[in-house]
Amino acid sequence: MKIRLDKYLADTGLGTRTEVKALVKNGAVSLNDMPVKDSSLKIDTETDIIKVHGKIIGYYEYEYYMLSKPAGIITASRDKKAKTVLDLIEDKKRRDLFPVGRLDKDTEGLLLITNDGDMAHKLLSPKKHVSKTYIAFVSGEIPDNIYQLFKDGLDIGDDKKTKPAELKLYPSISELCNVYPDNMIEEKYNLIANDTSDSLNIFEITITEGRYHEIKRMFEAVGCAVVYLKRYSMGSILLDFSLKPGEYRILTDEELSKLKSIYT
Ligand code: URA
Repeated sequence: MKIRLDKYLADTGLGTRTEVKALVKNGAVSLNDMPVKDSSLKIDTETDIIKVHGKIIGYYEYEYYMLSKPAGIITASRDKKAKTVLDLIEDKKRRDLFPVGRLDKDTEGLLLITNDGDMAHKLLSPKKHVSKTYIAFVSGEIPDNIYQLFKDGLDIGDDKKTKPAELKLYPSISELCNVYPDNMIEEKYNLIANDTSDSLNIFEITITEGRYHEIKRMFEAVGCAVVYLKRYSMGSILLDFSLKPGEYRILTDEELSKLKSIYT
């Protein structure tokens, strides 16, 4: 791919277009070991070597991160006051990263972060029915027919009923951890259970939509309350349980190709 030098430098996070143009003008930048002063030069991102102050600056067209989102952080690219999920990605190369979809401030778990708009669009498209699986700790009296109610779709106050959702009840936190090796959720469960006199039910819930507060509103519609929510998967991507809340890693080639195969 061929792009202008100033775009190359700005894309890699070195500064705004104006800032990187100044870098070039001040002689800080070289192209294949020759100093350059012209920001409009076309760069071949595959073969040209760009250095700034003698250090090679690689070009990343796309970046793909898996973040274990902690509670208390908002799902946004930037915010004037609050810390965002993007602030957690410390060694990002691109400035145009964004979260794929949205988790509530108090929801934890898997969040994909990328600058691949095409992929994000397809993952979020209602037509693609990409499954998202969450673990929910739920208080309140559970109706006997809850599985059918979730399968049939619920009126949560929107124009349309929710699309069918699949529910599975785990009889104990250790049974959940036998299926998903997530030590963090065990700690969380014990903390919450110690703090409340209500009994907590542990549900795995899989939905294919992404409506605002969807899972919380679905449980509310049957007279229950979600007291904790964590996303475990999105499409083919399963949360890496070795990531502590707030930690992240780059998607592996295998994860990426599986993810892309849903729409190619
Ligand atoms: N459903 C919710 O209620 N909250 C989330 O963060 C995600 C799904």
